[in-house]
Amino acid sequence: MSLFNPQKTLGEAGFFEGLVDFHSHILPGVDDGIKEMEHSLQVLDYYERKGVSTVWCTPHVYEDLPNKTDDLKERFEQLKEAYKGKIRLMLAAEYMLDHEFASRLADGDLLPIGDDHDHLLVETSFFNGPENLEQLFRQILSKGFYPVLAHPERYIYMGKSDYLKWKEMKVKFQLNYTALAGLYGKEAQQKATWLLSNEMYDACGSDLHNVRFVTEEKSELATMRIKSKSVVKLLNIKRPNC
Ligand SMILES: [Fe+2]
Repeated sequence: MSLFNPQKTLGEAGFFEGLVDFHSHILPGVDDGIKEMEHSLQVLDYYERKGVSTVWCTPHVYEDLPNKTDDLKERFEQLKEAYKGKIRLMLAAEYMLDHEFASRLADGDLLPIGDDHDHLLVETSFFNGPENLEQLFRQILSKGFYPVLAHPERYIYMGKSDYLKWKEMKVKFQLNYTALAGLYGKEAQQKATWLLSNEMYDACGSDLHNVRFVTEEKSELATMRIKSKSVVKLLNIKRPNC
């Protein structure tokens, strides 16, 4: 059977070996992601067995959930202390592009992402973007950061012309790889497939919020199947260009 046989799962195709998960909500008890430390450790244990190399913890920060930078750092230290395995754990945040973010950007109160800490993982509402989205991207760039738009495939208000415009502006894109298997519906799957086939993604992540994703007998990660053409491209971004 070929390595890229369409019937293979991500695991069988070698996707997890050396993977950098660029987006996850496994820092426990700080957002709508995993609540218990024990569950975070279960996810990390599963990832370790699969060969994942690095996990970025990217808790939400937005107006109604204004997680303070120092509190996130403290919780992250607790996770690092509890986890005894081999995965490299890193801390950043997923910032909603709202007033809270604008004020943190102005103050330099940020948790950047990427090996050189010169990127910011950002998101918008799935339904409507902020009117000043372009201006916000420009402000981020002018502060010396690359914006990394989390899961561009999931925004129902964005289309191909938007994607091309943001890429032209040097905005980077992070794929939720589960979108390729249809986890967010057909439209997101089609957008993800198009973006991936046009090599517009710079990083990929699980956006994992729940331990069930990895612990049920037939966990979604274990059974997820993706078209062979997409898997080839996906393997190219399992280590981010960020
Ligand atoms: Fe997220």
